[in-house]
Amino acid sequence: MNKNEKINWDELGFDYIKTDYRYISTWKDGNWNEGTLTKDNMITISESSTALHYGQQCFEGLKAYRTKDGTIQLFRPNRNASRMNDSCDKLLMPEIPNDKFIDACMQVVKANERFVPPYGTGGTLYIRPFIIGVGDNIGVKPAPEYIFSVFCLPVGPYFKGGLTPVNFMISDYDRAAPYGTGQQKAGGNYAASLQAHKIASDRGFADCIFLDPSTHTKIDEAGAANFFGITKDNKFVTPISSSILPSITKYSLLELAKDYLHLETVEEDVLLDDLDRFKEAGACGTAAVITPIGGIEYKDKLHVFHSETEVGPITKKLYETLVGIQFGDIEGPEGWIYKVN
Ligand code: PLP
Ligand code: COI
Repeated sequence: MNKNEKINWDELGFDYIKTDYRYISTWKDGNWNEGTLTKDNMITISESSTALHYGQQCFEGLKAYRTKDGTIQLFRPNRNASRMNDSCDKLLMPEIPNDKFIDACMQVVKANERFVPPYGTGGTLYIRPFIIGVGDNIGVKPAPEYIFSVFCLPVGPYFKGGLTPVNFMISDYDRAAPYGTGQQKAGGNYAASLQAHKIASDRGFADCIFLDPSTHTKIDEAGAANFFGITKDNKFVTPISSSILPSITKYSLLELAKDYLHLETVEEDVLLDDLDRFKEAGACGTAAVITPIGGIEYKDKLHVFHSETEVGPITKKLYETLVGIQFGDIEGPEGWIYKVN
């Protein structure tokens, strides 16, 4: 992006914008090199890289927030670092030290400070770390070399409308297999979700609900976000499943619902046949933040929770608490906020 080009902060969506710098480090002979910032947003790799053929790669997503006093902060980057290492472990990729991960994110945010949206616009700087298997190789085995890179871009809402409810439909397809890579942030899960997303989008839904891949009777995920519901007796419920991504936002909401909103919280099966017990529902994630779910199409009928047009009061309160902490207006639990200095 040209230095003189102006960004319209209020109209940001979730689209790629090339920022000034990205971080890149390579792994060879058992070690990560020091890593460096670069202006070059192109990566040249062997045509036989495992990332290209066998999906040996994983990624993360987190955000930098501009506070009222102009400072910049990250939300729980240590959790993204640990989750990336879980993904690496599963995909036989080298561990990336948590400090190196966080330092790379900090360097990238600082170098691209001019892209961090002003406080009050609702915009954030989305940070995308990723690791790919590279180098010459053709057998189905781990790569000889790896690249760890972090880039960033300013974003607005992932689902159009922010706190306006959106509708979902149930997907006929699975994004991950039972005992597969559903708990990891592996690109293959997202490739597998593209067709289901397109079907939902073509039919006018914001996204689709993935069911548990073993029985297809329970809610697993809400597109690229986790699902939560508020029961009629005020419990915060979110699915427990071995095939969903352990969302950092979801685990944060479990704590906030309990400690800030004084709700009972529970991770348990969310049966499709029992949606009536919820008076509100939502999708949560770094990109999705908290997006209220208006309704879910099930058995050819739209099951509406609170309303198709208005956010429910508990979802709203959860949103205000989470976003308040992320932007520095509310004091969060200890250790959640990392200042970028
Ligand atoms: N589920 C999937 C499939 C995702 O891609 C994401 C996004 O990261 C989430 C859930 C939400 O996770 P988090 O809150 O850690 O961003
Ligand atoms: C995120 O919320 O960070 C995601 O990764 C979701 C999506 C953009 C893949």
